[in-house]
Amino acid sequence: MSPIIQTESLTKTFGSNTAVNAVSFDVQKGEVFGLLGPNGAGKTTLLSMLCTILKPTSGTAVINGYDIIRDSARVRQSIGIVFQDPSVDSDMTSRENLQMHADLYGVPVSQQASRIQEVLTLVQLEDRADQFLNTYSGGMRRRLEIARGLLHYPRVLFLDEPTIGLDPQSREHIWSYIRQLQEREDMTLILTTHYMEEADELCNRIAIIDHGTIVALDEPSALKQAVGSEVIHLETDEPEKLQDLLMKIPEIETVRVTGGEVRVSVPHADDELPRVMEIAFKAGIRMKSVHLTRPDMNDVFMHYTGREIREEGHESIGRMAMMKRRSSR
Ligand SMILES: Nc1ncnc2c1ncn2[C@@H]1O[C@H](COP(=O)(O)OP(=O)(O)O)[C@@H](O)[C@H]1O
Ligand SMILES: [Mg+2]
Repeated sequence: MSPIIQTESLTKTFGSNTAVNAVSFDVQKGEVFGLLGPNGAGKTTLLSMLCTILKPTSGTAVINGYDIIRDSARVRQSIGIVFQDPSVDSDMTSRENLQMHADLYGVPVSQQASRIQEVLTLVQLEDRADQFLNTYSGGMRRRLEIARGLLHYPRVLFLDEPTIGLDPQSREHIWSYIRQLQEREDMTLILTTHYMEEADELCNRIAIIDHGTIVALDEPSALKQAVGSEVIHLETDEPEKLQDLLMKIPEIETVRVTGGEVRVSVPHADDELPRVMEIAFKAGIRMKSVHLTRPDMNDVFMHYTGREIREEGHESIGRMAMMKRRSSR
């Protein structure tokens, strides 16, 4: 499998500020690739270079076989862009906006009407297609921008913080469109986000970016596994007795007792929990409570940068909503 995007030492400086510092990575065809990092990490600058909006200070990238510097026109035909700053015209309707974009990108006239209908359906804006955008909510505008980015059937779609500032319901909608696009094998998606849960939920691979540098790149599960074990927390009246029994299981890495709670570190908590419970039950040890903790993307970020992504003053996506969806899948 050959990569659809290859970046080679991409660098962008603004005066003495190095916004993106010698970044190299590949993105495979069909991937949803995430750039996760705090505000000011260089995500938008990196995306802007790939989209040929900004010229790199040094280094280059190849997208769909075309060099972003030498072949920028062909790169632009290969990509769709959904960027932070709304660039849709408020005095027009959705359909008019899409029509203008179709002309701009040279979508064949015979296909324009059906494609416009197709993308409007995807983002569920058919009913509002002929209303002016100044009557739209922020979420609806974002959906229109996604529709517009897809109109010319790009090979690669770039989304810069696609859900920033949206309410939870609109965010859910955007996630669901991204998942639908993910199913199309011929489409590759690159998105930036500072929401850890969003990266974790949507991306096949995540590059963690901080101060213009990629500090880690892997599948979300691998990133989390690399920073630490999963932990089973058991609250009981006889912690030492339980500890002695559990230390005999080879898969268990460590068993600690802290204030009446037994903490059991294991590679996969789901696999070991039934066995742990059975041992306690057979020994007649009564359990008051049991819960699991797993490293999340925040722990990953912390591991590589020494600080929390949340410190930067960003809100987090409601964890309850996340857990609800996980369990319904
Ligand atoms: N046009 C610009 N001129 C000067 N500095 C810029 C410009 N764009 C971005 N920067 C700086 O580059 C760094 C990275 O910014 P940006 O790419 O917007 O980060 P992110 O999208 O991750 O929040 C920041 O320090 C920002 O202030
Ligand atoms: Mg940005």
